[in-house]
Amino acid sequence: MSTALYPGTFDPVTKGHLDVLSRACSLFDRVVVAISEGNNSKDTLFDAPTRVRLVEENLGEHPNASVESFCGLLVDYAMEKKASVLVRGLRAVSDFEYEFQMAQMNRHLDSNIETIFLMPNEKYFYTSSQLIKQVHLFGKRETDLVPENVLSALREINRFDRGEDPV
Ligand code: PNS
Repeated sequence: MSTALYPGTFDPVTKGHLDVLSRACSLFDRVVVAISEGNNSKDTLFDAPTRVRLVEENLGEHPNASVESFCGLLVDYAMEKKASVLVRGLRAVSDFEYEFQMAQMNRHLDSNIETIFLMPNEKYFYTSSQLIKQVHLFGKRETDLVPENVLSALREINRFDRGEDPV
């Protein structure tokens, strides 16, 4: 059985991530979305359990996918999950250098693990969690680049920031 990890911060998950996940699910028997807990919860907008839930609620179409959070090194987690492939989404040339360094470091740490890159549909080439957070939280605009549950979670944070009652 082929198992792949799809690792990332997913703060929050976007439709671009889900597009890559869907491609990975058609290539591997099992795909584990591996959400990095990071070193400091203050570095992310959503805490790890919330990031896991926001992905989990979008796995309906993918019975061979699951989601978990991890801490520590990705290669150790991959070994624990018996995964020999790491899937990363690649959007633009600007992603390449960071991805190349990570892939090489992970190969240095464990030569049995391969990183493969999947391109999302081109309509998501400019979608990033970072930009989504800016658009949704710095003003009053919204995008349709995130799934419905993420949209609600971002709206909830906006209401809280404005001192309004939760719905
Ligand atoms: O979505 P991101 O933030 O680009 O994902 C980066 C992530 C979480 C995949 C990367 O930071 C990671 O693997 N973190 C775990 C720690 C680790 O293994 N670091 C060495 C890899 S080069």
